[in-house]
Amino acid sequence: MDRIDNQKKVLKILFFVLVAIASVVTVLFIIHIINVKKFNEEWRVITPESTSAQVMVDIHPRGGVTDSWEKNNTGLGKILNAKIYEMVVTNNAHTYVDDWNVRINITENCYLNNGWCGTFEVHQFADNGEELVQTLDLRNFDENEITINHHMGGQDLLIPLYPGDYYIYHPDLTEATGEVPIKGSEDMTGESIIGIIMYSSSGDVDMSNYVLSYRLHKTVWDGRVGLIFIIAFSSLAVSSIILLTIFIVSVRFEERIISQNRILGGALKVCCSLADSRDYYSKEHSERVAEYSKMIAEKIGMDKSDSDVVYNAALLHNIGNTFVSEQVLRKKGKLTRDEFAEVKKHTLKGAEILKEIKEIPLAAEAALYHHEKFDGTGYPEGRKEKDIPLIARIVAVADAYDAMSNDRPYRNKLMREQIREEFIKNRGTQFDPEIVTAFLDIMGERNL
Ligand SMILES: [Fe+2]
Repeated sequence: MDRIDNQKKVLKILFFVLVAIASVVTVLFIIHIINVKKFNEEWRVITPESTSAQVMVDIHPRGGVTDSWEKNNTGLGKILNAKIYEMVVTNNAHTYVDDWNVRINITENCYLNNGWCGTFEVHQFADNGEELVQTLDLRNFDENEITINHHMGGQDLLIPLYPGDYYIYHPDLTEATGEVPIKGSEDMTGESIIGIIMYSSSGDVDMSNYVLSYRLHKTVWDGRVGLIFIIAFSSLAVSSIILLTIFIVSVRFEERIISQNRILGGALKVCCSLADSRDYYSKEHSERVAEYSKMIAEKIGMDKSDSDVVYNAALLHNIGNTFVSEQVLRKKGKLTRDEFAEVKKHTLKGAEILKEIKEIPLAAEAALYHHEKFDGTGYPEGRKEKDIPLIARIVAVADAYDAMSNDRPYRNKLMREQIREEFIKNRGTQFDPEIVTAFLDIMGERNL
């Protein structure tokens, strides 16, 4: 049982350690969630002067032979030249670009004609400072709904822009174009290419004045910190399962041990009652001797487990009495030599039975040697001092106390002081002096 108690203590300590670690990990994880949220909410800005290589924008003419042309029917009374520009947004961050847009600041007179795949938020400033703003899908618009300044050159929409005006490209939010989000570069899909058609007199439009705004997006499990939390939570989960399993097994094991001990205890009591019942004067003698023996065991420092072993062994010390005739056991007068020889046999007989029962260690030694005396004058072997097993030296003192404190066929019980005197007188001769000292202390403490 001591081992189970120790196991329980260890389990309890492990449980508290686990709870402490889980609490710390949870607090750190909450801090991590807050940091990730901040990270995801932060708008980052890239201009041509920026040196960040994480997310970049590059705007250049597409350069194919069909990517620039001349337009006569502008409806403006002048010829304009068109050019397709490519706006490439590249994501070299190892995470998603969750949201982004590109602002193009106009530095020369030009016209915005078309663009894909997203929408264009156009800002025009009139001479009086009035601002016209409209967001348009240039591939799919209704001319009647356009409220900003514009012309139609045949089928072509021409939105005039002057220095100071600007437009913001907003990517397509549907999954069809893959513009939002732009995956990280590890997937080799980290870019989005936007086409923009600009008109101007020369055919070249300055597109170098831009501002890319974007937000990165990562999950709490991304990156090295995310991996550490995955490992930490997995380890905690596995440890909890292991601990819970050990706890359940240990509880069941304890229940079984308790049940077995109950059965064993019951069986032992039946056996010792059988032995005691043969002697009218020693009813419950064995049980009391077992109790006193256990007290001594605890007093001399044995743990609970060893004290229980002492109790069970002491309980059976007189089991050999079942082989001694009741006549002799209950005789009131002095025993003859032969009768005493028969009584003595109870030690040998008891040991003979008990040595086969390994589940009750020390019982055979208790039965065999409990009538040995410390000075070697006892029976059956005449062992002395420490040659007498400790269990037998303990039982001898307990046995003597019970005999002296109860009436016997040949004498009445002794008074408390007489018993103490007997023990003191026989300390070192009949009894182990250390055990006597321990028992005298017990008598004092428990008022025996
Ligand atoms: Fe005995």
